[in-house]
Amino acid sequence: MILVLSSSLHPDSRSRILARATLARLTEIGEDTDWFDLASTPLPPCDGATAYGDANVQDLSKRIHQANAVLIASPVYNFDVNAAVKNAVELTGKAWTGKTVGLMLSAGGQGSYMSGMGLANSLMLDFRCLIVPRFIYATGESFEGDQLADESIQQRVNQLADETARIARALAS
Ligand SMILES: Cc1cc2nc3c(=O)[nH]c(=O)nc-3n(C[C@H](O)[C@H](O)[C@H](O)COP(=O)(O)O)c2cc1C
Repeated sequence: MILVLSSSLHPDSRSRILARATLARLTEIGEDTDWFDLASTPLPPCDGATAYGDANVQDLSKRIHQANAVLIASPVYNFDVNAAVKNAVELTGKAWTGKTVGLMLSAGGQGSYMSGMGLANSLMLDFRCLIVPRFIYATGESFEGDQLADESIQQRVNQLADETARIARALAS
């Protein structure tokens, strides 16, 4: 099973459009999927103490734990992923151990292309995650309303979904 984690808290998020497109592709190729949206299922700020007992935190931890791979969609905020996804990783920690992880980013401009590397490094070094070496990075011109409207980004969505599924299946067998 592959979990798609959408982390933008914006009501009209573009990274959520990427996440939904990826979910659709995974379904198309016959993968079992799960979906978690931090905008509709809020998590408490990580305090390193009582927040771990929150029901939504425990639910997300369980879903990450059960997944063979996790595909994270995030906005680029200040040359990084947003605070919501960092907070989610802080809260769920060890559930990420050994997971295959792919990243898709929505940004305001082309210059922040490397913004996912901090999260990728932390997942690799902290939790021995295997990072799929195929990112999606899209800016505003790739979208029309609530739709993805860029064939090259759609191709990248398909490649990320296909490659993640292939790696996750290979590692599970
Ligand atoms: C607080 C904040 C910081 C941002 N920082 C960057 C940035 O460093 N680089 C960039 O390209 N875009 C930046 N943006 C633009 C967002 O990445 C862009 O609006 C993106 O579409 C947001 O993703 P979302 O639509 O999924 O929420 C920033 C936006 C906000 C609100």
